[in-house]
Parts: sequence; structure tokens; C-alpha cells
Amino acid sequence: MAEGRLKALFCVFVTTTFALAEVARGQRVPCYFVFGDSVFDNGNNNALNTSAKVNYSPYGVDFARGPTGRFSNGRNIPDIIAELMRFSDYIPPFTGALPEQAHTGINYASGGGGIREETSQHLGESISLKNQIKNHRTMIMTANVPQEKLQKCLYTINIGSNDYLNNYFMPPPYMTNRKYSFDQYADSLIRSYRSYLKSLYVLGARKVAVFGVSKLGCTPRMIASHGGGYGCAAEVNKAVVPFNMNLKALVFEFNRNFVDAKFTFVDVFTGQHPLAYLALGM
Ligand SMILES: *[C@@H]1O[C@H](CO)[C@@H](O)[C@H](O)[C@H]1NC(C)=O
Repeated sequence: MAEGRLKALFCVFVTTTFALAEVARGQRVPCYFVFGDSVFDNGNNNALNTSAKVNYSPYGVDFARGPTGRFSNGRNIPDIIAELMRFSDYIPPFTGALPEQAHTGINYASGGGGIREETSQHLGESISLKNQIKNHRTMIMTANVPQEKLQKCLYTINIGSNDYLNNYFMPPPYMTNRKYSFDQYADSLIRSYRSYLKSLYVLGARKVAVFGVSKLGCTPRMIASHGGGYGCAAEVNKAVVPFNMNLKALVFEFNRNFVDAKFTFVDVFTGQHPLAYLALGM
């Protein structure tokens, strides 16, 4: 009995100290949850049976911790956001995270992950947006994170690129380009995105940054396969325009419908002109 009370007291002490530490550091939000694909993944694919793995050199050459499973030489966008939000450490990947870490944040992103379930299947396993949200639900339920806390957390999502790169612009068995025009495909992706975003809202998300897709036609593989090996693949860049437009409209729709939440669209397409540097001779 005395021991039980001591344990309870210890628990209170730890929780209080932890909360005070958060305040002392000036952490801007109590928790940060990350969803998305390779742009945001920080180690989840290490544990998957996939060729989309990056936990070896030269990935991480400019990162103090070396190759970690970030698809990057250094920090990625969620790392920089975590720093700006003054977290004491980067947000841990879901794979290997303890449920208690759902009190400060978890990164669920997976390289190759898409809005559609079949996206990137030729690469092996990946975690789709649907399953990332399912994992999130499991973690916050297991850790008993209160709804009031979840509503104060930051959420960022970067998904959709693979539904083009590793689905629509791929040969069979991918069939989406036979079935859908650019507009129809964007519409269908956004319809799914709407339901996943709604699920996240129901799970407590109120501060959500939604990233659009970049000029995917300027990626080396698309230049090779759809751009004649030169410049950018105009067709691919054209295809993602309606996706970004509809995603932006979806963000406005959510802000209208859920006035207790703030959704933000992050435009990474406009202003991204990699070839302008060539034209300028830089
Ligand atoms: C990994 O995936 C490949 C290809 O899908 C499969 O042949 C192999 O058996 C898998 N390995 C494991 C350990 O599951």
C-alpha cells in the first residue's frame, strides 16, 4: 500500500517535472505528429521489406547521427519544424517508438507511402496514409493521450507524390492512367484525402499543415521516362496541377466546416523552377 502510494507520488512527480521541462524549454506545442512519404520519413522504412530503404551511406552524410533512414543528406522538414517548435529532440519514427512517446509526438511517414493502397507496391512494403492514421489511433489510444492535449498538437502531412511517381506514371500492373484523366485522378485522390483528413480531425487534430506536391516532372526518373531525358517532363507537371488546386480547395473546405481547427495548405509547387537556374546560366 505504502509502496503503491510512493509509486503514484513518483508518477505525479515525473509527469510534473516533464511538463515543467516542456515549459522551460519554451516548446511551442506539446506534441507534433508527422504523416507522409519519403520527404518526411525518418526511419520507418528501415523495418520494412522494401527496396525504398536509405539507412546507409551516403544518406545522412551531413547529419550528426549518420544514416538513420531519412531520405536526405541532412535534416528533413519535420526535423527543422521540431527545432523551430523548440522540441528537445527530433520526433521519433513510429517503428520502435513506445506508446508513451505519443505524448510528445511520433513520425508515421513511410517512403513510398501513398493515398492509394496499391501505390509503390512494386518497391515492396510501405505504409499508406490510411495505415499511418490507423497506427496513430493505436498509439494515442494505448498511451491514453487526452483529447484536450491532442487538440493542441501540431500535425503535418506530405502525401500524394507516390500516387503519381509510383502509380499513375508507371506501366502495368498500375492501371490508373488507363482509367483516369489527370482531372479525374486528382479528384479521386482528393476524395480519399478528405476522408483521411476527417479521420485525423476526429482523432483530435486541430492544427494541421497539409503539403502539396512539388514539380514531380523535374525528378530524374520522370525526366528519363516521360521527359525525353532532357529538361522537365511537362506532362507530369501538368498532371499534378489539379491535385494541388483541389488540395488547396480541400483545406479551405475544412476551415469552413471545422471552425475550431486551423488547416494550412503549404505550396511547394509554385515558385519552384529548377530550370530557371540553367536559363540564367547559374
Ligand atoms: C520481401 O519481399 C520479397 C518480394 O516481395 C519477397 O520475395 C520476400 O520473401 C520478402 N522477405 C521477407 C523476409 O518477408
